[in-house]
This record gives sequence, C-alpha cells and structure tokens, in this order.
Amino acid sequence: MDMGRLDGKRALVTAAGQGIGRASVLAMAAEGAQVFATDINEAALAGLGDGIEAFVLDVRDPDSVAQGMARARPDVLFNCAGFVHHGSVLEAQDEEWDFALDLNVRSMFRTMRAALPGMLERGGGSIINMSSACSSVIGAPNRFIYGTTKAAVIGMTKSVAVDFITRGIRCNCICPGTVESPSWHDRVKSLGEQVGSYEEALRQFVSRQPMGRVAKAEEIAALVVYLASDESAFTTGQPFVIDGGWSG
Ligand SMILES: NC(=O)c1ccc[n+]([C@@H]2O[C@H](COP(=O)([O-])OP(=O)(O)OC[C@H]3O[C@@H](n4cnc5c(N)ncnc54)[C@H](O)[C@@H]3O)[C@@H](O)[C@H]2O)c1
Repeated sequence: MDMGRLDGKRALVTAAGQGIGRASVLAMAAEGAQVFATDINEAALAGLGDGIEAFVLDVRDPDSVAQGMARARPDVLFNCAGFVHHGSVLEAQDEEWDFALDLNVRSMFRTMRAALPGMLERGGGSIINMSSACSSVIGAPNRFIYGTTKAAVIGMTKSVAVDFITRGIRCNCICPGTVESPSWHDRVKSLGEQVGSYEEALRQFVSRQPMGRVAKAEEIAALVVYLASDESAFTTGQPFVIDGGWSG
C-alpha cells in the first residue's frame, strides 16, 4: 500500500462544513491523516465519509474549543473559520468589528492556546492559520474590517512561530485570493443586488484575478496538505500567498 503524506498525523480543522475547510478535510484524509472535521453547523458536516470524525465546535466558545482539543489531540491544527464584512471604514459598524475580531482573530488565539500544550508534550505540531491576500499583503476595496483582521492573523502566526521554533512547533498561514465557496457565492449575489445583476458582480470579482478565474477550494487544500506534512519541515512563520497572481 502507498504511504500517505500525512500518515500517523491527527488533524483538526475548524469551519470544515463547506468551502476550503471541507476540501482540506478530504485532502488530508486522502493523505492518511486521522481527521477531525469541526464546524458550528452540524448539518454541514454530514457526508464527509468513513474514517473522518465530525463534531460541532464553535470557535467563539472557549468551552467548546477546550472539549474539541481534548477529544482530537491534534498534531495539525488548521484554523479555517472566518467571516467577510463588506464596506469601508465609513460603513463599518462596531458590532461587525467586534464579531470579526472575535471570529477571525481571537478564535485562533483560543484554539492555539488549547492545542499547543498537547503538541509540545508530544514533541511537535503544525499550525496553519487562514489569513487572506486581502490583509497586509494587499488592500481590497470594501474589505476594511476583513483585511484588518486577516493582517492580524499574519502577525499572530509569526509570533507563535518564533516563540515555539525550537520546540518542534511550526506555524504558517495561508493568504488566498478569491476562492469559490458557498459564502463567496453569497457575496457575489449581494454585490449583484448593488451593481444590477449577478453576472456583473461575477465579472467584477473575476476581473481582479489576473488569471481570469477564481480558485477552487481544492487548490488551497493542496497547500494545507503541504504545510501539514513533514515536507514543509523547514518553513515556519510564513504567509503563503496563493492568489492567482492578484498581488504579484
Ligand atoms: N472564499 C474566499 O474567497 C476566501 C479567500 C481568502 C480567505 N478565505 C478564508 O477562508 C476561510 C473559509 O472560507 P470559505 O469561503 O472557504 O468558507 P465559507 O465562508 O463558505 O464557510 C465558512 C464555514 O465556517 C463555519 N463557521 C462559522 N462560524 C463558525 C464558528 N463560530 N465556529 C466554527 N465554524 C464556524 C460555517 O458554518 C461555514 O461552514 C475563511 O477564514 C475565509 O476568510 C476565503
């Protein structure tokens, strides 16, 4: 039997019900990892297949995070949960700011703090945080709150990487351009209401991608597998931009 690139590793994924999280669960399982697929939406976790353990984990709830980490004892933690608010600094609402800082940034502090002691005890681990090309890499129109939180993810990633670099822990983050996913389809629909049609909104989203298309979730999942595996053993503290040349 072929060896999988993630044989023997236990991997926990947040926001695994759809989009990049779900694609990453399937890709890591295909490479031999024992995968724990978690999401706030239980129904979305259905149908992932045999051998993948799926359970509800709300990254905004410290008890839920603690229980999830105790159950999974992950060697690989993929912090994928995040939400996109629309608008410039002038439209941003305090409640949106609080929500996004909690879901996009503080949640990763919670999960990393809960997962790290076990990783250290077992002698190593790989943490992969979901940032975005829209962050400190590039400014995107009407992504004030989102870009700010995703820039914070890069800083947090570097900080964790440097603190644990001699103790077997690696921490990297991923900065995708636009990726096809259910929430992206919702964003196209809502832009369509402003610009006249779904087709025009789609044209605007695609036109900012120099390759003339958006990414498939599986293309991001391939990078997740690499960062989870020992193939990436010499990399830590890095933002990995995977954006079809958007910021290039
Ligand atoms: N799609 C893109 O274009 C794109 C680009 C760059 C970065 N990202 C980032 O990738 C990540 C995933 O985005 P996507 O578009 O692939 O998926 P998505 O937005 O379609 O799905 C998000 C999932 O997160 C879950 N979720 C929401 N709140 C949660 C909570 N409190 N705890 C646990 N799970 C929760 C939802 O139930 C849902 O299944 C996000 O962090 C997003 O910011 C996406």
